[in-house]
Amino acid sequence: MKSVGVAILGFGVVGSGTYKILRDHREFYRRTQNIDVTVESVLEINRQKALDLGVEESRISDNIAEVISNPNVDIVVEVIGGVEPARSFVLAALHSGKTVVTSNKELFCKHWHELEAAARRTNAGLYFEASCVGGVPIIRTLIDGLQANVVTSLTGIINGTTNYILTRMTREGSDYRSVLKDAQALGYAEANPAADVEGYDAAYKLSILASLAFHTKVPLETVYREGITEVSGQDIAYGDELGYVMKLLAIGKNDGGKSIEVRVHPAFVRKDHPLAAVSDSFNAVYLQGDSVGDVMLYGRGAGALPTGSAIVSDVIYAATHSDVKYATFKNEEKAESGVKFVTNFRSRYYIRFTAKDRAGVLAKVAGIFAKYNISIAELIQKGEDAENLPIILITHETNEFSVRSAVEKIGALENVVSVDSVIRVEG
Ligand code: HSE
Repeated sequence: MKSVGVAILGFGVVGSGTYKILRDHREFYRRTQNIDVTVESVLEINRQKALDLGVEESRISDNIAEVISNPNVDIVVEVIGGVEPARSFVLAALHSGKTVVTSNKELFCKHWHELEAAARRTNAGLYFEASCVGGVPIIRTLIDGLQANVVTSLTGIINGTTNYILTRMTREGSDYRSVLKDAQALGYAEANPAADVEGYDAAYKLSILASLAFHTKVPLETVYREGITEVSGQDIAYGDELGYVMKLLAIGKNDGGKSIEVRVHPAFVRKDHPLAAVSDSFNAVYLQGDSVGDVMLYGRGAGALPTGSAIVSDVIYAATHSDVKYATFKNEEKAESGVKFVTNFRSRYYIRFTAKDRAGVLAKVAGIFAKYNISIAELIQKGEDAENLPIILITHETNEFSVRSAVEKIGALENVVSVDSVIRVEG
């Protein structure tokens, strides 16, 4: 039986979840995988955290050089998060020829090219299933399950914190601030929630997933990003009346590898769309392949055991495969030349504005839409207040830039008080 020694760098939520799985399933992996996996070393300044879970004192270290040079360590699991010192630690492990398994989406999406180059030099393994969508096996699905397909689109709810907040806003009719506070108190949102609520976390993951799905480098800076901080309970309620649910979507589209569209933003999806049923902190990714058709993966995108599950699956994969697969595309910092990133994307739009109830206002609004070749699918006038009349319209599919220009012109009309919201309608 093959013995496999693991080092865990960082003993926070994911590190301790990984440790528990490896400890509790040791016999199971001996029996089912024919490998004996042991945690040989834990890098953690707060020794007590590791001691509390039963790690032997002699295996706890605060010295990365000592951990990496330990001859019993074959696989280094990095679950520290953030760019530094994680980047330096991972590079040191790869330089010494050790396989690395990481959950670090920020490090991976910003430095993947550098990590892969280092891994290739020593023929070390580099695995990152846990970097995207926690316990949902999306990376292996893209690399090993759907490789027969040209993947044409990928739409995901890939951030649990924002899905939890939007779900509660929808169910309770509450506003963003009060739900965020509650989510922080319950541990669903971080004290500093920016990475989640501003869409950065989803953008990191989309950059990685789109690169794998479309077989070309999709750098982080090509991902259009909007978070959920401006989402209003009012729009969620109006959307509900119209048959839509609000989600923070990560969308990737691929037109033959030549033209790529990647964006993260709140969007309405029809209530009968499979993603509409993904609630609370759950995640899902909906893919379309040219041979397989539609595929959807659903599960927990965060948490000690779900993310630990992805880490341990990489550890087992690395321990049971002697060949190493790297990216299927030229993995450099920048996108390959010749790949165009679409910014003037196409969507349907929900637009809410407040107008005075005067003759001719709607005719002027309609005139502006006509000028930009935007076709209106639905128009609803709410309320009775002649000075502040909410008007909602939904367009047929049109261009992003046309909508931005039209909205600017509508906002400047004499009897329009304000343009309150512009929300894309997808799916
Ligand atoms: N904070 C993330 C989420 C999990 O809320 O989904 C880690 O990426």
